[in-house]
Amino acid sequence: MVNKVVLVSGANQGLGFALVEALCRNLGPEASVYLTARNAARGEEAVRQLRERGLSPIFHLLDVTGDASVAALAETIRARHGGVDIVISNAAARISRDLSQAEQVGLFVNTNNHGAYRMIRAFGPMLRDNARFIVVASGFGSLRNLSADLHGKFDIARRSLDDIEQVMDDYVHFIETDQAKAQHWPERINIPSKVGQVASIKIMARLMKEEASRRGILINAVCPGLIDTDASRPWFDDMSSAQSPAQAAEDVVWLATLGPRIEAPYGELVQHRKVLPWL
Ligand SMILES: NC(=O)c1ccc[n+]([C@@H]2O[C@H](COP(=O)([O-])OP(=O)(O)OC[C@H]3O[C@@H](n4cnc5c(N)ncnc54)[C@H](OP(=O)(O)O)[C@@H]3O)[C@@H](O)[C@H]2O)c1
Repeated sequence: MVNKVVLVSGANQGLGFALVEALCRNLGPEASVYLTARNAARGEEAVRQLRERGLSPIFHLLDVTGDASVAALAETIRARHGGVDIVISNAAARISRDLSQAEQVGLFVNTNNHGAYRMIRAFGPMLRDNARFIVVASGFGSLRNLSADLHGKFDIARRSLDDIEQVMDDYVHFIETDQAKAQHWPERINIPSKVGQVASIKIMARLMKEEASRRGILINAVCPGLIDTDASRPWFDDMSSAQSPAQAAEDVVWLATLGPRIEAPYGELVQHRKVLPWL
């Protein structure tokens, strides 16, 4: 793969940073690998660290909670390259142990769900032939993790991307007004959010199926498995079984760099190179 145009969101630390490093190494100096971050100083510092390792990612500001920020990056990529080969929507808000779920659900969903939706909307139409579009989700994103009476809300065969956005906004409202439990929603906000991310990628895959098949495009969600990052560490007493970000990046990069004429996985949630069931 030469001269590829690659974009990773939330890439100044954690898995995103390791993805940029691995993609720079895998694709070589001809590739344009965009390390994006919501904070310029943190993003530029991350680029500086990778330059010290002989790599040359390109920094661009990207706050996935803002339509204008996503549109600005899309315009830059369009003007410089005309399209994009690999998009990894990785940016995520953390869950704090010190705040209630109600206090953080709004920002969490706006970043992790509406942020992924903004990436789908902006970069889906810019995918080149044989492009790979990936949302970093988690194993929590299987629909089986939700009560059966909620499954219709995530009907991937019929729902639109906008429907899922509305379902997630409704969920925010239920958490904020203490109605979630009565409606059989989990009170841990990570599970519905990840289900929403995977539903959106499956719907994107459904809507683009004919074109993607014709043009060799693959669209998937990925679970990287447990990774030792600042996001996960506060939740576990023992991180000895966790992967380093570099280890976790390997299987995500495998998915992102699958060669042309490969038709699967498509529209799936993939963990360690295997498809996880939706139901
Ligand atoms: N860690 C795990 O065990 C694990 C397991 C399963 C799935 N995952 C998934 O893997 C992905 C990466 O996780 P991680 O552990 O690497 O998380 P992390 O260390 O918290 O990194 C998240 C990145 O997203 C960025 N970000 C936050 N809000 C943003 C916004 N509005 N716009 C753009 N970027 C934003 C953060 O930037 P700042 O530095 O500015 O905050 C940071 O660079 C997430 O999708 C997560 O759900 C992680």
